Amino acid sequence: MIRAVPIGIGHYLPARVVENAEFEKTLATTDEWIRDRSGIERRHFAAEGETTSQMAIAAARAALDMAGLAASDIDAIVVATSTPDLTFPSCATMVQAGLGMERGFAFDIQAVCAGFVYALTTANALILSGQARRVLVIGAETFSKIMDWTDRGTCVLFGDGAGALILEAQDGAGDASDRGILATDLNSDGRYRDLLYVDGGVSSSQTTGVLRMEGREVFRHAVEKLAQTAHTALARAGVGADDVDWIVPHQANMRIIARTAQKMGVGLDRVIMTVQDHGNTSAASIPLALSVGVARGQIKTGDLLVCEAIGGGLAWGAVVMRW
Ligand code: UT7
Repeated sequence: MIRAVPIGIGHYLPARVVENAEFEKTLATTDEWIRDRSGIERRHFAAEGETTSQMAIAAARAALDMAGLAASDIDAIVVATSTPDLTFPSCATMVQAGLGMERGFAFDIQAVCAGFVYALTTANALILSGQARRVLVIGAETFSKIMDWTDRGTCVLFGDGAGALILEAQDGAGDASDRGILATDLNSDGRYRDLLYVDGGVSSSQTTGVLRMEGREVFRHAVEKLAQTAHTALARAGVGADDVDWIVPHQANMRIIARTAQKMGVGLDRVIMTVQDHGNTSAASIPLALSVGVARGQIKTGDLLVCEAIGGGLAWGAVVMRW
C-alpha cells in the first residue's frame, strides 16, 4: 500500500519578536493575563513588506534541504493560508515561482486554523491517487496584518510564521506500523461562522477586514471537538491514545491544548508546545510545531503523531501519522 511519508520539515519565523509586555503600553492588558489565559509569552511579527509567500518560500527551502531535494523533485505544492499576498493568484504559485519550480501544480487551501490539517489530508489524497509522488505542504500566515489593535481580546493572541513539510509516496505494509499518514478526519459546521471571522472581503466590503472572535465560545467548541476528531482519526488508524508518542496540536491556547490532551488521556509530557513562543499562527502553527519538535529532538523517526486543529468556519480535523 502507498503511504504519504514525511521526508523533510522546515520553518521560518520573522525576525521581530514581540513580548507580551509591549501590549501593556497601548492596551488595558498585562503580561500576566496573557500568560495565564493563553500561555502565550511572545510572538513574531512580519516586517513591513514581508509577505506570506516570502515566509513560505523560506520554510520550503529548509524542508527541501532536510530532504536533500531540489524544487524540481516536487510534483505539487499545497499552501494552507488565510492571509495570502494577493486575492489571486494563489500563494502556492508564488512559492512555486520563488523556488524556481517550472513544472507540477500549486494551489492554496483556506480552512483558517485547521488549514494545515486540511492541506495534509488533500496532499495525502493526491499521493494515494497517484497524481503526485512528492508534495510540499506549507502552512504560512501573516495574521498581524488582520488584527484590530484596539481589541485586547484578539490582538495579543496571534503571530506570524511558516512551516513546510514534504510528503513522498512510499510503499507500506498497510498497517499501523507504516511510516506516513495513517488516517485523517475533517469536519466543518458553517452555522458557527460568526464565532470567528474577518469582517471584510472581496465580494462583500472590498476591504481586507480585521479578525473578530467570540473567544469564550470558540474555546468551548475547541475542547469538545478536538478530542473527538483526534479520537476518530486514531480509531481509523487502528491505534489508541496510549500508542501516541506526540500530540502536535494547533497552538491557539495552552489551556485548550492541555484540556484536549487530558480528555484524550495523554500526559502533557507527550504534547509539543510552542504557543508560548509563537502565539497563534493559524495554519502555520502545526508545521511550525512539527519543525520545532524535530529540531528539539522530541519527535523521532517512527514516532506516532496526532495533529489536531480547529478554527474559523468552524472547521476542524485531525491527522494521524508515523514520523
Ligand atoms: O485559532 C483559532 C481558534 N481560536 C481559539 O482557539 C481561541 C479560543 N479562545 C481563547 O483562547 C480564550 O477564550 C481567550 C484567550 C481568547 C480568552 O480567554 P478566556 O478565559 O475565555 O477569557 P474571556 O474571553 O472569558 O474574558 C475574561 C475577561 C473579560 O473581562 P470581563 O468581561 O470578565 O470583565 C475580558 O474582557 O478578560 C478580559 N480580557 C482581557 N483582560 C486583559 C480579554 N482580553 C484581555 C486581555 N487582557 N488581553
